[in-house]
Amino acid sequence: TDKAGFTIAIDGPAGAGKGTVARRLADHYRLNLLDTGLTYRAVAHALLRLGLPLDNVSAAETAARQVDLAKLDRSVLTAHAVGEAASKVAVIPSVRRILVEKQREFAKAPPGAVLDGRDIGTVVCPDADIKLYVTASAEVRAQRRLAEIESIGGTADFDDILADILRRDERDMGRADSPLKPAADAHLLDTSEMAIEAAFLAAKAIIDDVLAKR
Ligand code: DC
Repeated sequence: TDKAGFTIAIDGPAGAGKGTVARRLADHYRLNLLDTGLTYRAVAHALLRLGLPLDNVSAAETAARQVDLAKLDRSVLTAHAVGEAASKVAVIPSVRRILVEKQREFAKAPPGAVLDGRDIGTVVCPDADIKLYVTASAEVRAQRRLAEIESIGGTADFDDILADILRRDERDMGRADSPLKPAADAHLLDTSEMAIEAAFLAAKAIIDDVLAKR
């Protein structure tokens, strides 16, 4: 991976707040932003739409090649079922290779980028200028998800959500290829006790500190 623009790599489990922190940081430092989860979601969505099983490797590879980073449509990709399915197609090494190549191209474009996902600091951008690993306890993440569902008028059971989150963590952390884990040189940010604004400010403080020492 040749070094290019300024890169901020953000990894962490589902629901830790990394997406919001990534967006706020990209705005603040005026960098491009890529939510790499959307690329896995796009592959999963394509297979679901075709009615194909999520372990159909050649169909998943074809879908991965067709992913266009400029055309990722959040409105269809954010559905919970698509996230679950994305976590399943994400275990296929050849799919990861295809998507990682696109993600690296994105990271190289000026003026630089914030990328968030599961393997950004470890695999996609191992030379990132700054790596953050954003976490929160599973209970807090489940509580946030429940609040989000209720805020749009839905209902759900806390224990079901928690079980879901634990299952997703296990799949993302337990897979053989590029499992979710903090890079050795990542700065850890636990948002369990933080509101989103505090999480952004904590991330910004870490980054400004690194920049001041360069
Ligand atoms: O962040 P998310 O919930 O949108 O990600 C959906 C799934 O995609 C996640 O459970 C695992 C996979 N993923 C991945 O394997 N590597 C990434 N860099 C991003 C997401």
